[in-house]
Amino acid sequence: MLLSTVTLLSVALASAQQLSSNLTQITDFGPNPRNVSMYIYVPANLPPNPPILVSPHWCHGTAQQVFEGRPWASLGDQYGFISIYPNTSNLADQCWDVSSKESLTHDGGGDALGIVSMVRWALKEYGADKDRLFVTGTSSGAMMTNVLIGSYPDVFAAGSAWAGVPFGCFAGNGYDVWSDACATGKIIKNGTEWAALVKNAYPGYTGFRPKFQTLHGTVDNVLNPQNLKEQIKQWTSVFGISQVPTEVTKDTPLPGWTRSRYGEQFEAYEAAGVDHNIPNQVDVVMDFFDLKCSGSKCFSRRSGNVTGMLLECIDHLVV
Ligand SMILES: *[C@@H]1O[C@H](CO)[C@@H](O)[C@H](O)[C@H]1NC(C)=O
Ligand SMILES: *[C@@H]1O[C@H](CO)[C@@H](O)[C@H](O)[C@H]1NC(C)=O
Ligand SMILES: *[C@@H]1O[C@H](CO)[C@@H](O)[C@H](O)[C@H]1NC(C)=O
Ligand SMILES: *[C@@H]1O[C@H](CO)[C@@H](O)[C@H](O)[C@H]1NC(C)=O
Ligand SMILES: *[C@@H]1O[C@H](CO)[C@@H](O)[C@H](O)[C@H]1NC(C)=O
Repeated sequence: MLLSTVTLLSVALASAQQLSSNLTQITDFGPNPRNVSMYIYVPANLPPNPPILVSPHWCHGTAQQVFEGRPWASLGDQYGFISIYPNTSNLADQCWDVSSKESLTHDGGGDALGIVSMVRWALKEYGADKDRLFVTGTSSGAMMTNVLIGSYPDVFAAGSAWAGVPFGCFAGNGYDVWSDACATGKIIKNGTEWAALVKNAYPGYTGFRPKFQTLHGTVDNVLNPQNLKEQIKQWTSVFGISQVPTEVTKDTPLPGWTRSRYGEQFEAYEAAGVDHNIPNQVDVVMDFFDLKCSGSKCFSRRSGNVTGMLLECIDHLVV
C-alpha cells in the first residue's frame, strides 16, 4: 500500500515536472575503477557552455531516486544546466566510497574518480563550462561532496553538503568502511589537522579552492552534529580564514536555522531541531551556486579568482 502510494507519487512528480528530455545512462565515460554507473539529464534546449550539477545519492539510495526526489532536472530545463546522477555499484548498503585512500587522493581512483570522470566526459561532450561545475548531496551524498571538493579542488567551483561529515572522517581500510567513531561525533581534530587531510589529497596544489556550504540538523542521530563543527574547523582552515563567522543570520531559510558565513568562501547552517532527514532547500543550493544566472557575470572559478579576473580584463583590453 505504502509502496504503491510512493510509486504513484513519483510517477505524478515526474509527469508534473514535464521534463524536456529523459534520464540517460552513459557507459565508457573514462577511468572508473569501481564501476560506478553514470546517468545524465541534458535539457533539450541546452544553452552553449552550460554549467553542470552532480548529485550523488544517499545510502540505500539510487540515482533514480535523486532524479525524482530533487528538482535539478526541471531546474536544468528552466535555467540551462546539465545534471549528473552517479549510481554506486556497492549493493551492500548503496553508500559511497568515502573511506579509501584512492577516493581521498586526487586522481587516485575509488568512487570519487569514477564520478569525476563523468564530469570530465560531459564537459567535453556538451562543451560545458569548466569553471561552473558543482556538486551537492545529502547524507552519503554530502560525505561524497566533502570528498570531491577535497580531492578535486581543480575541478569544481563549489559544493553543498547536507548532513555529511568532514573530508577524511570515514578514512579507513577499503572502499566501504562505515566509521562509527565519525558517525557518532567522536573524531575530533583541530583545523590544522583536518586541513592537512585535504591538502594531502592533492599535494602541491595551490590553485583556486571551490567554495563550500554545509548544513546539518542539531538532533541528527545518524551523523552526529559534531560533524558540522568539525567541517567548520576543516574548511575554514583549508581556506586559511578565521573560525569566527563574519556574519550570522538567524531563521534563514527556515525558522530555527542559523547561517554562519565565514567570508565569501564558506558558510555553515545549523538547523535547530532537525534530525538526519534534513529537508533540502533548493534555493539555498541554487543561489549559492548562482545557477539561476546566465551571461558573463555568474559565479564561477573565474569570478572567484581575482587574479584570473584581472588577467581576463587585461586580455580583453589587449584584444
Ligand atoms: C522519454 O522516454 C520515453 C520512452 O522512451 C518516451 O516515450 C518519452 O517521449 C521521452 N520523453 C521525453 C520528454 O523525451
Ligand atoms: C558494472 O555494473 C553494471 C551494473 O551497473 C554491471 O552490469 C556490470 O556487470 C558491472 N561490471 C563489472 C566489471 O563489475
Ligand atoms: C541504480 O542502482 C540501483 C541498485 O542496483 C538500481 O536499483 C537502480 O535501478 C540503478 N539505476 C538508477 C537510475 O537508479
Ligand atoms: C593541532 O594539533 C597538533 C597536534 O596534532 C598540534 O601540533 C597543533 O599545535 C594544533 N594546532 C592548534 C592550532 O591547536
Ligand atoms: C586564477 O586564474 C588564472 C588565469 O585563469 C590562473 O592561471 C590561476 O592559476 C588562477 N589562480 C587560482 C588561485 O586559481
